Amino acid sequence: MLVLGMLKLVVSGTAQSKASGRWKLVLPLRFLGSSPCRIPADDSFHSTSLSETEPPRVFITGGLGQLGIGLAGLLRRRFGKENVILSDIKKPPAHVFHSGPFIYANILDYKKLREIVVNHRISWIFHYSALLSAVGEANVALARDVNITGLHNILDVAAEFNMRLFVPSTIGAFGATSPRNPAPDLCIQRPRTIYGVSKVHAELMGEYYYYRYGLDFRCLRYPGIISAESQPGGGTTDYAVQIFHDAAKKGTFECNLKASTRLPMMYISDCLRASLEVMEAPAERLSMRTYNISAMSFTPEELARAIVKHIPDFQITYCVDPLRQAIAESWPMKLDDNNARMDWGWKHDFDLPQLVATMLTFYGASTRCAQAN
Ligand SMILES: NC(=O)c1ccc[n+]([C@@H]2O[C@H](COP(=O)([O-])OP(=O)(O)OC[C@H]3O[C@@H](n4cnc5c(N)ncnc54)[C@H](O)[C@@H]3O)[C@@H](O)[C@H]2O)c1
Repeated sequence: MLVLGMLKLVVSGTAQSKASGRWKLVLPLRFLGSSPCRIPADDSFHSTSLSETEPPRVFITGGLGQLGIGLAGLLRRRFGKENVILSDIKKPPAHVFHSGPFIYANILDYKKLREIVVNHRISWIFHYSALLSAVGEANVALARDVNITGLHNILDVAAEFNMRLFVPSTIGAFGATSPRNPAPDLCIQRPRTIYGVSKVHAELMGEYYYYRYGLDFRCLRYPGIISAESQPGGGTTDYAVQIFHDAAKKGTFECNLKASTRLPMMYISDCLRASLEVMEAPAERLSMRTYNISAMSFTPEELARAIVKHIPDFQITYCVDPLRQAIAESWPMKLDDNNARMDWGWKHDFDLPQLVATMLTFYGASTRCAQAN
């Protein structure tokens, strides 16, 4: 009866309050009894939010992939080493294990997630576990489990313990019927990969939990991310990482996308900084829960031309993978990120020339660069 009464209040609009410049439903979870089937009715919903002066206690899931280790480094510099717990289901390399707290955490184990949050007094989650586009298509059942069931576990835990939750989305959340040049924040999203479908689901579920339960859900749609120190995890934009390694080491590269395939890309440090900035943004600055972020867009041909400026004898050849090509052709060529720039001041640092110089220097191509210049 109490639940019904509360729902009536909500529907009639009397249980609303203004938050983030938008009308948001205020519905304490305890009045709902339980979030989808797992939260015991007699649980009181403990907030683990810390005082304004205390740093957040951060938990990173899926942290041993391309992005998580770099994120942990950034967050540890900001909030202190002991306040950031990295996790994965893989065994960490020694340097990662010794660089700060690391634990095993399978996002499919809901009880274990609750235990981690309670034992470590977690207040923020960066949810990075996922199967990416190409890997997901090769294993749809697992991708569905990890990307959808795993997300449900994270949403429930985050809502139950009143945490701030970051979930990255992707250009893969758009589809062939979305506007592609540029793709705005709000438009038709009909992806045809399990990865894309699961990310649209994450965007919508996060927004739903925000309005329904007041969960502080924040989400950015990342472009393809380019990094030197960490390897990509099986996405369609992986070529843009491998090309630097091969250019520096072999002087040649065989590309699995067509020369003219234009996709949005970003250097890892911009991506990680954006993720921290949106998490730190005051609630009233956020007019949406999911934002596009953008830095540059290029084709393999344009990237190769930028590399030739440093390595004049570099040669690119093409052996197109039809699966990846089809995926890439359904993705935006460019993202419109004006809302992120206006709302919380997003600004990228790395454009194409800076990216190329940074990546080639990392792979030891600086000697060849110097000779070429
Ligand atoms: N890298 C990119 O270019 C890119 C672009 C857009 C969005 N994203 C998103 O950013 C996030 C991180 O991306 P990434 O490139 O580091 O991914 P990745 O594939 O490199 O790493 C994902 C990690 O998830 C872990 N994982 C898999 N199943 C798990 C489970 N059951 N429990 C816990 N962990 C599990 C894996 O072991 C892996 O280390 C993902 O959500 C991805 O969708 C990445």
